[in-house]
Amino acid sequence: AGTGKFFVGGNWKCNGTKDSISKLVSDLNSAKLEADVDVVVAPPFVYIDQVKGSITDRIEISAQNSWVGKGGAFTGEISVEQLKDLGCKWVILGHSERRHIIGEKDDFIGKKAAYALSEGLGVIACIGELLEEREAGKTFDVCYQQLKAFADAVPSWDNIVIAYEPVWAIGTGKVATPQQAQEVHVAVRDWLKNNVSAEVASKIRIIYGGSVNGGNCAELAKQEDIDGFLVGGASLKGPEFATIVNSAT
Ligand code: G3P
Repeated sequence: AGTGKFFVGGNWKCNGTKDSISKLVSDLNSAKLEADVDVVVAPPFVYIDQVKGSITDRIEISAQNSWVGKGGAFTGEISVEQLKDLGCKWVILGHSERRHIIGEKDDFIGKKAAYALSEGLGVIACIGELLEEREAGKTFDVCYQQLKAFADAVPSWDNIVIAYEPVWAIGTGKVATPQQAQEVHVAVRDWLKNNVSAEVASKIRIIYGGSVNGGNCAELAKQEDIDGFLVGGASLKGPEFATIVNSAT
């Protein structure tokens, strides 16, 4: 872990029912979470209100997506204003499932980030390469292009956490090695130093996502440029998520 406050997010994706989420929240409420960690969970939209109303204030709420501008006649979308109304502090944008399954493009994601920030939400900005891109030696180029789309759109990086999630490691059980993750995190920091500012590069938190679990988190957390995690599957189990939250101490 680096010098920034450790940040662990649980992305529940499209999982859960009222009952299973009530059990997960009660497990999280009784878990011992180290004080010096930002802890955030991202429930499906339809359960945000339930979670916000029952979870400890110690844990902040993120949305998994948001509309690109002010709400209105956009059937099926959820606006940033509505997320704030429910008490969300964060939104995950650019997740690989939205890029590669839904087809969201770099500039659209950048605009979403700019709008969410302008309304005071924090942004968990996701980047990461596909397996074929890694195998073709394009990992850095892909990450730089995705970073540039954010950089071109946002006025400030103050309220952004970058999540590096190699797509081949997401939900596959194939975690990046600590060295593979560290190498990309350093490259991201260098890119920010060269293209944004040395201050942003040194201050920003870069978290890793992709098959993080209770067994592999401690080794990853030892890396100097890994400032936390974005956790999918293992965040659906309260005690295991708590182990990940506490992995840097
Ligand atoms: O956003 C978290 C993520 O995509 C990683 O998912 O299930 O591999 O931990 P998972």
